Amino acid sequence: MRASILLASVFGAAVFAAPAYPDLNEAAALPGGLDTVSEYFNMLATKVQQTRSMAVAPVCDLSKASLPVAPSPLPAPGAGLTLKHVAIGRGTQNYTCDLSNATAIPVANGAVATLFNASCIASTYPDLANALPKVALQFNLTASESSQKLAPSDLAISGKHFFTNLTTPFFNLDSSRSLKLGEVPCAKLAATPAPADAAKGQQGEAAVAWLKLVAREGATGGLQEVYRVETAGGSPPATCKGLQASFTVQYAAQYWFYAK
Ligand SMILES: *[C@@H]1O[C@H](CO)[C@@H](O)[C@H](O)[C@H]1NC(C)=O
Ligand SMILES: *[C@@H]1O[C@H](CO)[C@@H](O)[C@H](O)[C@H]1NC(C)=O
Ligand SMILES: *[C@@H]1O[C@H](CO)[C@@H](O)[C@H](O)[C@H]1NC(C)=O
Ligand SMILES: *[C@@H]1O[C@H](CO)[C@@H](O)[C@H](O)[C@H]1NC(C)=O
Ligand SMILES: *[C@@H]1O[C@H](CO)[C@@H](O)[C@H](O)[C@H]1NC(C)=O
Repeated sequence: MRASILLASVFGAAVFAAPAYPDLNEAAALPGGLDTVSEYFNMLATKVQQTRSMAVAPVCDLSKASLPVAPSPLPAPGAGLTLKHVAIGRGTQNYTCDLSNATAIPVANGAVATLFNASCIASTYPDLANALPKVALQFNLTASESSQKLAPSDLAISGKHFFTNLTTPFFNLDSSRSLKLGEVPCAKLAATPAPADAAKGQQGEAAVAWLKLVAREGATGGLQEVYRVETAGGSPPATCKGLQASFTVQYAAQYWFYAK
């Protein structure tokens, strides 16, 4: 992909007034949220300068991308697997509360997210890719799925993430018209806390854990392992006090897909 196109995809609405973008979630944004967005654009401006001075345009070579490592690292990708895709997931973590129990704590009840193709950014500008979950969390997705944008970027939708039962996170990377990378039902293999400075959620929620997931039976496209890293927000309150029987918490993360 040419540098200009790649950078256009991360600039999004800032330079191209094309589609309608969701509003910046100023009310819900944390103090510092606006700084986060402007830091992102400053970083982009620097990349534009660097790109102008490059003799050749950066190429999307996934072998150049390196999986972010947590302070207490997850197990490495399996031998013989190769990185097939990097996506930014933007959506909600779902929780339930037992309202009949005064001391109940929220229980995880799956998640729903739209996946956006960040393969080129992750392999060319990892710092931009790592800033994206945090920045994207400052914006809400638009209601209409077909027109969803990962504001402030213009990354293409590459798939959907949801749960088929409580213990089976599922990724459909066949749902985009142009890109069919397969589907993978997963099981959790390992979890590790997000770094202490991980981005908080819209209401100050801690970042959800980083995960290593492995394919269950039924995966296609050779997909074998999925990592959730660079998480932003998504954790529930400590207790169910004042909460409803089911509720959602906005989150964003990077998902890394490895295949045979
Ligand atoms: C974004 O979504 C959250 C959670 O649903 C909501 O509280 C907030 O008001 C929304 N903000 C905007 C600007 O739509
Ligand atoms: C999306 O990701 C794949 C690899 O994961 C890449 O080959 C492709 O060029 C990307 N498409 C776009 C539109 O960025
Ligand atoms: C209420 O919730 C707490 C915290 O999850 C749990 O330890 C306790 O067993 C629950 N009590 C009942 C009656 O379910
Ligand atoms: C999670 O919440 C979203 C948004 O409210 C909803 O569309 C989805 O069905 C919920 N999923 C589960 C498993 O509860
Ligand atoms: C959830 O789905 C997976 C994959 O289909 C299955 O192996 C597992 O037994 C299911 N778990 C429950 C609790 O139903």
